[in-house]
Amino acid sequence: MIKNTLITAVEAGAVELKRFFNGTFTVTSKGSLNDLVTEADHASEKAIIDIIQKNHPDHFILSEETGEIKQNSPYKWIIDPIDGTINFANGIPICCVSIGVELNGEIILGAVYNPFMNEMFFAEKGKGATLNDIKIGVSAEDNLLKSCLVTGFPYQYLDTANGPLQIFEKLVRKAIPVRRLGSAALDLCWTAAGRFDGFYEHKLQAWDSAAGFLIVEEAGGTVTDLKGDVYNPYQPGIIATNGKIHAQLQALVNGGDI
Ligand code: IPD
Ligand code: CA
Ligand code: CA
Repeated sequence: MIKNTLITAVEAGAVELKRFFNGTFTVTSKGSLNDLVTEADHASEKAIIDIIQKNHPDHFILSEETGEIKQNSPYKWIIDPIDGTINFANGIPICCVSIGVELNGEIILGAVYNPFMNEMFFAEKGKGATLNDIKIGVSAEDNLLKSCLVTGFPYQYLDTANGPLQIFEKLVRKAIPVRRLGSAALDLCWTAAGRFDGFYEHKLQAWDSAAGFLIVEEAGGTVTDLKGDVYNPYQPGIIATNGKIHAQLQALVNGGDI
């Protein structure tokens, strides 16, 4: 039942992405210059929340644009109505709807759907990860120097030791390809599917990673915070890899070398 609601909800959100894509929609700033929200984000969020509330009126909801809809429930839905809003607003079809479901503080289900590539990523705790119902797994690369990585950058410049630009520069100086798709949820799913060997980012929100992190774990990968501790989506940093390059990437992200 919860799984059905999850799939129906991501699909309903995606209908709104398709409806507005490359069309006319309002775009407003959320504070910092390029931190945007579009009419499509709100429409997707409304479609998703309507479905969850219809099927599970007593569940807690945390959604990027609305915030918390508090309920005294062991279940929490963590929603990103469009992950990759800048891409969406520019007509770049690398964006998705991402929803994770938490039970007693543990993510048990995740779905990430990019309707422009018709790719539905899904995972259930302990049952593996799929792309369009076909099982996926992480890559086998064990050498960071031969890896293909992906990362993202926050909307405001992070001038900290071992910050996003320093790590990016270090990797690029080693001629390691580091892509920047603009959607953390898809970065995670593409790592789960073996397209990337690893992903790291310094400042995410729970809705960016809640679904994707379970999808990577269920695809056989490793997900930790930047220090290598057990991943918790309510703190900002993430390293998600095929497991084999995890220690190498973690060392480099923390100022070490390989
Ligand atoms: C953003 C994307 C991007 C990441 C940003 C996120 P949004 O989410 O996931 O890849 O680098 O930190 O905020 O704003 O498009 O939902
Ligand atoms: Ca996001
Ligand atoms: Ca978003």
